[in-house]
Amino acid sequence: MYRIGQEEIDAVKTVIETKDFFKVNGSLQSCYKLEEALKNRFGVNHASFVTSGFGALVSALIGFGIGPGDEVIVPAYTYIATAMAVVNVGAIPVIAEIDETLGLDPDDFEKKISKYTKAVIPVHMQGMPCNMDRICEIAAKHGIKVLEDACQANGASFGGKLLGSIGDAGALSFNFFKIISCGEGGALLTKDSSIYEKACIYQDSSAIAYFGDQMNGFSQLSFCGNEYRGNEILAAIMCCQLEKLDSIVADLRRNKAKLLSLLGDVCVAPSNDSDGDCGIQIPFRFDTYEKAKAFSEKTGQMLLYNCGKHVYYDWAPIMEKRGAAHELMNPYNMPANKDLNHNYSPDMCPKSLDLLKRTVTYGISPDWTDEEIEATAEKIKSILNS
Ligand SMILES: Cc1ncc(COP(=O)(O)O)c(C=O)c1O
Repeated sequence: MYRIGQEEIDAVKTVIETKDFFKVNGSLQSCYKLEEALKNRFGVNHASFVTSGFGALVSALIGFGIGPGDEVIVPAYTYIATAMAVVNVGAIPVIAEIDETLGLDPDDFEKKISKYTKAVIPVHMQGMPCNMDRICEIAAKHGIKVLEDACQANGASFGGKLLGSIGDAGALSFNFFKIISCGEGGALLTKDSSIYEKACIYQDSSAIAYFGDQMNGFSQLSFCGNEYRGNEILAAIMCCQLEKLDSIVADLRRNKAKLLSLLGDVCVAPSNDSDGDCGIQIPFRFDTYEKAKAFSEKTGQMLLYNCGKHVYYDWAPIMEKRGAAHELMNPYNMPANKDLNHNYSPDMCPKSLDLLKRTVTYGISPDWTDEEIEATAEKIKSILNS
């Protein structure tokens, strides 16, 4: 979260004064306004404000009809929540390599497709767009659904299209660490009504059937699901945050461009769309792990190999197949998943490990002054030349 202030305080105050916090049929309808704003911004027919990015991912998978017997391809570099969302619906995450851009490697994605594969989740890590043209082309060829995990990429785009709006569905996160935030929150985006209906029933399982007219016009029958319903206070904050998104991303991009121009000839990871990158960091790429580690230690910036729970080898509950609290609900024990690809090992994605060992992301602030950018450039240059 970068910018929060009086606008959000006033919006929350207004909701509190109404004492009306419930999403469904509330008098202020902040949730409704937020969902309309998301639909307009992303050019999708449906948007649903939920309690987390995880809730958005899980409900999208439910919307796709994914469950036991299905494989879903996820990248080796993503937050553990992406893989956990797959397990949460009873399916098996199959882990594929990333490429030089740090996004899902389209070639390895295609190699990992089996007769059980039903979906792929490209993850736009740290605002860096995946190669959505190739991923969508391969997915279409094999009849596989695409769920974009844009939880770390609010405001970024690929080929002029906002991330989260390109695949069959997209998930956004508004947790504290994201570009815009209400503390905890997320959104599901989709153009497809049947995905939306199933996802909505799942994420608002008890209220949707019993309050208001939310299911009017639905062709899906209700079923027992979960509760990831957003609320009016958080939605009021998010309406303000969404209005700030363009200026935050513009300032991030400007500061990143200025820092890069001052640095001159430095080695950074290639981008699938450098204009679409949202500018939260510069991915420095070194030729050895030792050099990357030294740069990370001297700058205090993140060496991606050691970035806790963002690399598959560190996803203990997945790697050790603890897929649920109850043994019979653990997808790794389910008969339907017996023949699926869950032969995980710490060294199963060597290309990803090599890239992550040699990459350090340097965080950008949208609020840096020109003097601060110049000082940062000098500091980086002296460390690189030492
Ligand atoms: C790539 C990615 N996917 C999913 C999530 C889950 O989002 P949330 O914390 O809102 O559930 C996160 C959260 O940090 C994330 O970084």
